[in-house]
Amino acid sequence: MDGEALVRKFQEAQMCLTPEALQLLEGREEREAERVLEALRGREFIVTPELVRGILEPSPPEAGEAEGGFFRPKPLAAEVEARVEVLRDVTGKSYSRGEVRDFLKLFLDRYERLKGLLMKRSDYADPLPLGELAGMEEGEEVRVVGMVAEKRETPGGHLLLRLEDPTGTAAVWVYKGKSEELLEKAEEVIPDEVIGVEGTLRSGDKEPRIVARDIAWPDLPTSGSSPKVEEPVCAVLLSDLHVGSKMFLREVFERFLLWLEGRVGDARQRDLASRTKYVVVAGDLVDGIGVYPQQEEELYLHDIFRQYEEVASLLERIPDHIKIVLSPGNHDAVRPSEPQPAIPREVAGRLYDLNTVMVGNPAWVSLHGVKFLLYHGRSFDDLVSVLPGNSRKDVSSMMVRLLRARHLAPMYGGKVAVVPEERDFLVIDEVPDVLHCGHLHISGYKRYRGVWAINSGTFQGMTSYMRERGITPTPGMVTVMDLQKNKPSVIRLV
Ligand SMILES: [Fe+2]
Repeated sequence: MDGEALVRKFQEAQMCLTPEALQLLEGREEREAERVLEALRGREFIVTPELVRGILEPSPPEAGEAEGGFFRPKPLAAEVEARVEVLRDVTGKSYSRGEVRDFLKLFLDRYERLKGLLMKRSDYADPLPLGELAGMEEGEEVRVVGMVAEKRETPGGHLLLRLEDPTGTAAVWVYKGKSEELLEKAEEVIPDEVIGVEGTLRSGDKEPRIVARDIAWPDLPTSGSSPKVEEPVCAVLLSDLHVGSKMFLREVFERFLLWLEGRVGDARQRDLASRTKYVVVAGDLVDGIGVYPQQEEELYLHDIFRQYEEVASLLERIPDHIKIVLSPGNHDAVRPSEPQPAIPREVAGRLYDLNTVMVGNPAWVSLHGVKFLLYHGRSFDDLVSVLPGNSRKDVSSMMVRLLRARHLAPMYGGKVAVVPEERDFLVIDEVPDVLHCGHLHISGYKRYRGVWAINSGTFQGMTSYMRERGITPTPGMVTVMDLQKNKPSVIRLV
């Protein structure tokens, strides 16, 4: 068939051929074009070369099933029962009234739980309350645990950390020129986080003064253990689809769906697709409405309901045997303050009709016994402004920093708005197997003390916001976590 006839034929069926797809079909027999058209009718709008190849050049028939006129092997994960357990999530448990005393309770809860984690270390088993320091002798060695109320450089170039606990305050001095290692540690301190300080007591004008010798974080235990999974299943980690944005990379997402169906990719990639039992999205399913100034100019869908409709249309093409876990981000239609409950049924009803588990942000979810902590990652916007030497590009290092703080949003009063629930949902009081974040649109992973810190990147191209800030996203990089081997790998779709 010639090009013009092909374009017309597909247009009549309300489909649009990409130039590469057209090239593939040109010169072929009409019945082949018919085959492609019938296989995709009502399912696809943009016809990509991958779709055409998937239909005209299917994988060799193995012990499999007939579907859509060609044979594909039955996915291994289809033989395995999904095992999803939501361990902790604010959805349906948000009782905060947002009063001042609620904030006091929240910070007290945060302090006590993080102090409890520090006290598991033998050297911090019995820290001194700050209120007791005033009655002690100058020169005594002390260990305290406090929340960082202030961090600043003094005119002499030393670092001053003011600590608070429920009993009092203290000024911690980290002298320049004494220990380079200690000064580096002190520079890493995030305002409002809970730290331990060891040092010598000096009397101060207004409050006790500690000359620091060491600083400690709640941190993860050094001996990490690996989860045991008997079945050879994988979880695909995604985030930041931003459906509704003109920069949503539909073609790349189409390729992702084809890979998941086992239609594209090399043998190793097809094996991972075949073993995929879970797809997890850590927020920003849609671009939303009114999230940033002049956003409307960058949207192709200006209606939040239609944005979620479109997400549902894409996700319903994920094979039925795969369980989809959806958690919100700052672009989703749910309260922006953290912890966020799940995207509500009123706005995204069709997502609830799919094979989904809707959870909040953050959420602790066990998949086949592997403990995932999902957090979209808004707090990275605050961390980049205070951490030395860390850029947005080093996404996994920032995630490790959260693990060390044992808190998902240690800084208060920045970009992350907080709902003062009775219990601080953002404390990382257990050790996850995987911390899965998004938000930065840059893919990366790192293992720290037995925990995988994975940022799953995006399906959105460069936005004006990112261009202004010199951020280059890495779209179309899909992280697949092999739950049995406890090992992530990345599949590049672009
Ligand atoms: Fe995002």
